[in-house]
Amino acid sequence: MLWIHPLFQFMTAILSLYVLSLGFVRFKANHFSFKSNTAFPWQEHVKYGKFVHIFWMSGLVLGLYVVGSTWGQNGITATHYWVGQSMMLCIGGGYATGWFMDNNKQERRYLPIAHAIFNTMAVFLALIQMGTGFMVIREFLL
Ligand code: HEM
Ligand code: HEM
Repeated sequence: MLWIHPLFQFMTAILSLYVLSLGFVRFKANHFSFKSNTAFPWQEHVKYGKFVHIFWMSGLVLGLYVVGSTWGQNGITATHYWVGQSMMLCIGGGYATGWFMDNNKQERRYLPIAHAIFNTMAVFLALIQMGTGFMVIREFLL
């Protein structure tokens, strides 16, 4: 049980890098008129983006549950706990903007940037979570 959350979140962090790489194709085309042979795979980006967001949220709930039920109190992982909470703001903003753009397709300038900032921040924080997560493993699991 203790190992499900770290493994699950590790795989999600890798998937989020893939989704970011798909988004980067769009970013270059939207803001730098970058001519590329690669088209933005809209449906694939949205599908895997949704997976990442759902996995992050359910992973957070699982992490909280495991820590609470095993050690009786949440927050003992300190930085890992707080970075995890702050990721939720980025996920909320990233999902809402992505959902809106997917359901109201038109040319846009600023909303994609807000979406890119929220989600890139979330990916960055997930990579920090890898580092702090391995420290939690060393401290509490091994
Ligand atoms: C880890 C998750 C995600 C990352 C890292 C990510 C990243 C990005 C990036 C960098 C762009 C280009 C923005 C720009 O041109 O400035 C983009 C575009 C887009 N994303 Fe995401 N995204 C994620 C999840 C999602 C989700 C869950 C949805 C839908 C529910 C979504 C829908 C879209 C759409 C529709 C666009 C095209 C917007 C446009 O050019 O009009 N994304 N994404
Ligand atoms: C590779 C990445 C990650 C690793 C290795 C990792 C590792 C861990 C470990 C070992 C625990 C203790 C409970 C358990 O063993 O199940 C934990 C708890 C937790 N994790 Fe992660 N984690 C990672 C990513 C994330 C991410 C991305 C989030 C947020 C979306 C997150 C949020 C949490 C929370 C909120 C707790 C409970 C902390 C507490 O109550 O003190 N983790 N994590």
